[in-house]
Amino acid sequence: MASLEENLEETDEACIRFQADYVKHLIEKTDYPMFDIDGVIQTFHDWEHHKHENIMTFRDKTHRSVMTGTMAPAHHTPWLKAFDDSIDCYVHKNRKSSKPHGADSHVSIRMPFPNIPDGFVEATNEPTWDPSVHLQLEAPAFLKTLTKGAQLCDWSKFPAPTHLEDGNEFPGLAYSAPFRLLSDEGVRAMREIISNNEANTRSFERTPKLLRGLAYRSKFIRDFLYSEEIFDHMEKMARTPMNPHGILMHAAQINFGVGKKNGGSDKPTDAWHLDSVPYVLILLLSDPEEFEGGETKVARYRNPEDGLADIKKGAIPSNFVETLKLPGAGYAMFMQGDKVPHTVMPVTSGLRLSLVNSYMSRDVFEKDQSLYRLSKIQDPSHVHPVEIARHYAWRVQGQLDYLLKENMWGQEDKVLKILDDSSESLKRTHDLITGKIEEEAPY
Ligand SMILES: [Fe+2]
Repeated sequence: MASLEENLEETDEACIRFQADYVKHLIEKTDYPMFDIDGVIQTFHDWEHHKHENIMTFRDKTHRSVMTGTMAPAHHTPWLKAFDDSIDCYVHKNRKSSKPHGADSHVSIRMPFPNIPDGFVEATNEPTWDPSVHLQLEAPAFLKTLTKGAQLCDWSKFPAPTHLEDGNEFPGLAYSAPFRLLSDEGVRAMREIISNNEANTRSFERTPKLLRGLAYRSKFIRDFLYSEEIFDHMEKMARTPMNPHGILMHAAQINFGVGKKNGGSDKPTDAWHLDSVPYVLILLLSDPEEFEGGETKVARYRNPEDGLADIKKGAIPSNFVETLKLPGAGYAMFMQGDKVPHTVMPVTSGLRLSLVNSYMSRDVFEKDQSLYRLSKIQDPSHVHPVEIARHYAWRVQGQLDYLLKENMWGQEDKVLKILDDSSESLKRTHDLITGKIEEEAPY
């Protein structure tokens, strides 16, 4: 430890990291139980960044408990103007939450990455992921939010605030404006990996040519998928901690949009749909001179069910639609794709290469509407049952963890609901795998 201290970089981050490593070192030498020290580091970093942002307002920010996963609510009055420190003022006059009747919230640890499944060979001839070389993260110009109940706010600046000006909680991300994500070098490395995997491309119902499973075939892609910098960026848009989706075959799906003039079809690259996963990061890997068409259109609905009904009818009102154009290779947009209907227009000429990463919230009580159907159609039969099982096992584990850690005395109804939901979820997963339950094709 002494030599580490002597060689310590003189940055606040390095000092925080050193202090945490020291605590970790002490815990390992004793029988004191280990806890989420990386979570503590993150909280310290956030707090330190808030201080740089503004030395008068950093106290108004909120943090998540690393012990319970509970996010502290924002206080009703800025610290500078809050002179009443009575319990009554602190607790009872706080803002009303937009969550229905104190819905549960519990942030779980990230799901561990599994072993590489049989039949997937990891490439050895690829560059090492380096965020300082491959990333070029820039803030999106705006965020569009979901619309909950009477809340009509539909846009927000980046980073998303904890509360809107009317005092209600941020209602959740709909989609972001396009923003720069990868550097030119990042795009180059990514395209090289895709071209090395050309032999693994396939064709499926909605997309004529695509490549899946890169998270198992490429360490570079895996490190990109788990990049802390990208998690942090997404969390500033969605205000919920992120995990790659449990179905890891959905990570880094590469879509080849081939133009009609180049032998492709004139159908939309991706017809109007809602995603089968909660969050998607859509990254363009082609430059504008390489293709024509392929814009993303999104439709704004108060209720995703209405969107689904209109998709089925094939009639999305044009005044609901916004067109988003990723300006070039390395640009991305982030959206809650299972709540916002979207389509990708036909590519008229050239090749539009894009990558889609799927994510879910680490809050295990966030509603999960993930579909298994596409995995069953597209992915190897020794892979998809384990992936769906891991996805729901992680959620249930987190929910049971909440039962163990929170104060449950006298809350028999809540305890029973968690037990019921957990066993129902595991039983349903079992039946999805065996085929006793078949999900309906939504369109
Ligand atoms: Fe989609």
